[in-house]
Amino acid sequence: MDKAARIYVAGHTGLVGSAIVRKLESDGYHNLLLRTSNELDLRDQRGVAGFFPRGKA
Ligand SMILES: NC(=O)c1ccc[n+]([C@@H]2O[C@H](COP(=O)([O-])OP(=O)(O)OC[C@H]3O[C@@H](n4cnc5c(N)ncnc54)[C@H](OP(=O)(O)O)[C@@H]3O)[C@@H](O)[C@H]2O)c1
Repeated sequence: MDKAARIYVAGHTGLVGSAIVRKLESDGYHNLLLRTSNELDLRDQRGVAGFFPRGKA
């Protein structure tokens, strides 16, 4: 995968998400998209749909 690929990691403040971020960063992925639950509540369907533009990578 392209090291510049934009990657959203859910739960990056938590145990699992923070470990995933560390692994991705150590592997050279630098375009990580990180949001707290206050910034993006994954239970909010409308908010999630707005966060991920359709048809864009
Ligand atoms: N830890 C394990 O060993 C383990 C094993 C199997 C499965 N899991 C599952 O993996 C997931 C993560 O586990 P974890 O141990 O990393 O949990 P955690 O340390 O409690 O972290 C939870 C993360 O989820 C985010 N989050 C919670 N509610 C959210 C919402 N409504 N919208 C967006 N983000 C939200 C939190 O963000 P904020 O801090 O911004 O609120 C936080 O970053 C859980 O579903 C857990 O059941 C964990």
